[in-house]
Amino acid sequence: MGNNALKTKYIQKAKAIFLANLMQGYSAWKKTNYKYIAPASKEYIYQWLWDSAFHAIVLSHFDTSWAKSEIRNFLMGQWPDGFIPHVVFWGNKKILPHWAYIESKLSIRPRTTALTQPPALALAVEVIYEKDKDKDFLRDVLPKLARHHRWLLENRDIDKDNLISIISPNESGMDESPVFQFVAGFLAQDAARLHYYYRRGDFLNHRFLFNSKLILEKDYFNCEELVFNTVFIQASRSLAKLFLEIGEISEAKFFDGIAQKSENSLLEKCWDDKDQIFYSIFSKNEKKAKVKTVASLIPLFLDGISKTQADALVKKHLLSKNEFWTNFPIPSVAKNEIYYTPTETPFYKVKLLWRGPTWINTNWFVIKGLRKHGYDEIADQIIEKTCQMIEKSGFREYYNPETGEGYRRSNFGWSTLILDLL
Ligand code: GLC
Repeated sequence: MGNNALKTKYIQKAKAIFLANLMQGYSAWKKTNYKYIAPASKEYIYQWLWDSAFHAIVLSHFDTSWAKSEIRNFLMGQWPDGFIPHVVFWGNKKILPHWAYIESKLSIRPRTTALTQPPALALAVEVIYEKDKDKDFLRDVLPKLARHHRWLLENRDIDKDNLISIISPNESGMDESPVFQFVAGFLAQDAARLHYYYRRGDFLNHRFLFNSKLILEKDYFNCEELVFNTVFIQASRSLAKLFLEIGEISEAKFFDGIAQKSENSLLEKCWDDKDQIFYSIFSKNEKKAKVKTVASLIPLFLDGISKTQADALVKKHLLSKNEFWTNFPIPSVAKNEIYYTPTETPFYKVKLLWRGPTWINTNWFVIKGLRKHGYDEIADQIIEKTCQMIEKSGFREYYNPETGEGYRRSNFGWSTLILDLL
């Protein structure tokens, strides 16, 4: 099947998935109607920050007004101080299942978490704007997104290097990634201890009422993480470009400057000369979390990565059969890491996420980066293998990087991102 025919087929499928996962009603808390696409129909019934951005990117291919409403709906959950939380628990019923209940109870405001996620909304706004040039939409959403970026700079950058710190693994969007075991300071495959450590962090954050500066000062979890910062930098660039479109020159200059400074810091501080790869850095001493995961490749998405760095990422790591070049790339953890688990990682009744399987949203970042920096052939190969995986297993949450078998939720929203790559 040619790319156009595939794209038409996937558009139909995306429409069906989005309709199946569509949530709408009246929110007594916000005194307004809400309408959004949940990541999946069962359990994942709330609205997540970066999932919404990915859904909006897909929607922009067939319905820009629906794409805009997905973004606008999420922004109704923004806090008065500008902070954008990672989950908005729409609806009026008791928040369930148990993990959602706990996350909501730990928060300091009703019906949202007090954590955030990679700030991908501005990336989606840029994609939508390219399609329909709606300046009123920009005038509505840009100031809100700008406030969130400023909040991050003000509250999450205590060492003033323009890299944003996350205060919980969940804020990376890659919850149980082994990167955070380095931050935790234990390197074993001990899931019970991992969970204990995570819950301890949650309770401490709650005890300090999510006062980010205080939490970072205490230094029990302080990670200048690669995915979060790569998204922050490119999203700041999107803000700069879009502010220019509506004639807001000083805002455009401000965000351009931020993107540049943050990018310089990331490219310098997170690069490991010996291993020729990027690592997240953690604690006030800025130690490197030396475990190779797909996050180490995501700086390819940066406009300003050097040719030498990009070449090293692609040739030494992405294309290495010992690391990321599996039958169905890109595994979330490199094959030669002790944590690499291509299958599901069950832990009692919960599954540990991001321990080896391939996810389509991280493929999206790397593929866009490959295109940006002239590695078209490799981008094409990953797209082809991603399509094969989907043909074999459907739109699943994640996939076995060796067999292409699909795991966990079915009809998973952001897996339809493939159609933005065709
Ligand atoms: C999982 C993922 C996170 C995603 C959420 C909703 O927690 O790790 O990135 O946003 O599910 O799909």
